[in-house]
Amino acid sequence: MKFAFSEISLPKRGSLAVLVFADNTLSPMAQDVDDITGGVLTRALETSRFKGKKGDLLEILAPQDMDVSRVILVGVGEPEDLKLVDFENLGGSLVRKLNTSGARNVTVILDGLESNDLRDNEAAAHITFGAKLGSYRFNKYKTDEDDASEPSLLRMTVACKASSGARKLFTDLEAIAEGVFLTRDLVSEPANTLFPESFADKCRELSALGVDVEILDEDKMERLGMGALLGVGQGSVRESRMAIMHWNGAPNKKSKNPIAFVGKGVCFDTGGISLKPGPGMEEMKWDMGGAGTVTGLMKALAGRKAKANVVGVIGLVENMPDGNAQRPGDIVTSMSGQTIEILNTDAEGRLVLADALWYTQDRFKPELMIDLATLTGAIIIALGHENAGLFSNDDDLADQIFDAGKTVGEGVWRLPMQPEYAKQVKSPIADFQNIGTGGRGAGSIVAAEFLKKFVNDTPWAHLDIAGMAWSKKDTAIVPKGGTGYGVRLLDQFIRKHHEGK
Ligand code: BES
Ligand code: MN
Ligand code: ZN
Repeated sequence: MKFAFSEISLPKRGSLAVLVFADNTLSPMAQDVDDITGGVLTRALETSRFKGKKGDLLEILAPQDMDVSRVILVGVGEPEDLKLVDFENLGGSLVRKLNTSGARNVTVILDGLESNDLRDNEAAAHITFGAKLGSYRFNKYKTDEDDASEPSLLRMTVACKASSGARKLFTDLEAIAEGVFLTRDLVSEPANTLFPESFADKCRELSALGVDVEILDEDKMERLGMGALLGVGQGSVRESRMAIMHWNGAPNKKSKNPIAFVGKGVCFDTGGISLKPGPGMEEMKWDMGGAGTVTGLMKALAGRKAKANVVGVIGLVENMPDGNAQRPGDIVTSMSGQTIEILNTDAEGRLVLADALWYTQDRFKPELMIDLATLTGAIIIALGHENAGLFSNDDDLADQIFDAGKTVGEGVWRLPMQPEYAKQVKSPIADFQNIGTGGRGAGSIVAAEFLKKFVNDTPWAHLDIAGMAWSKKDTAIVPKGGTGYGVRLLDQFIRKHHEGK
């Protein structure tokens, strides 16, 4: 789908979308349309339940005395209350509605927003960003081209006062959306085609945008002593990999220590010998969601040429049961030198991250490190699908991530860490064990305490995104499937705190 911006004027063809405020107050252009059509809008509003509430949509087909094929009334509520995220949601809802309607072109007129604090170009760019995010489809495996669910919309034009400023702002947002789409693609891709080596190939493709990509194979990881990560992958016929992606965009500061992002990339999690139950196991194709977010984030940052030095490190494995698989009771030595007793082979993400986190802080001495992982089912019990779990050894960092989440509408909620929980991962015969002694209690916190053993004294935050990487329901800007959660959040975090912007 293509996006464009123009000055405010009525289009000659296609569909037209105009704003309606609270209590059905028409925007100036909506008023013009009502006049031209001899009051069609007013009559339509009177005969429906539409109240101009934020997110209400009403479609009027073939309005008289106009050449456009339809007029969509877009409810926006009180104009002064609208935030960037609201504009994104409006754009997303509009596109999703039109995509099932057969409309091919739409012009959205943004006027009457003088009482809103945002600049016209921001509102216009973000309604377009939302439209783009909402237009995403994972349809590469649909072979029936006549499928009625095929989206119809080809082009959206946003008419506003500051069209050239909007176009400029949208360039960056479009790069971010491309990053989100890469994450969604990776997360939705099944495990027969997306496995450590093919995932690493996807990372390599980012070199076209100026990202330096290094891939570590099993021999290299063996020599580095990554016994924790390699133990998880040893039951799979697919070889493990680690991908390292560098984006060096900081001006005149090539040597500035990077910000590091680390991702869990379990391309499929059967649980291993501690096998998961059959029903729902197909969901574990998205157990590489953390790695997917890190990869999409690198694409977004490179795409908009972020002025920061960033490194993304992802541990890629497949957790399978097999004659060569790791057994419960096995003891492995991690790259840090610390030993781990494997009490449950299904608690594998923390083992992958143990080596990925240690490697990252050891090699890059990052200013700070944030990991993302679909780490625990327990975080879904705690927070459902509204917020990711946030854990940190640094209050300022935690606050910054929380605020970034508020700004972009990707929620995070902090959970505690303290020595009493950490005690649970001490093993009687090794340094640590990979599950806690507390049964089902505080499972997500115990997992975070385990990770903390491998971050040294680096400022660090862990995002448990098990409830966020995948969605079973459509929303305005996030269609069901891989959500791309975290790309916008971390892009905002970098933009605000690490680009001098
Ligand atoms: N990938 C899972 C976590 C998960 C479960 C994500 C369900 C999304 C939905 C992880 O590897 C896992 O299996 N964790 C175990 C840990 C337990 C064995 C301590 C869990 O959460 O049950
Ligand atoms: Mn598991
Ligand atoms: Zn897992």
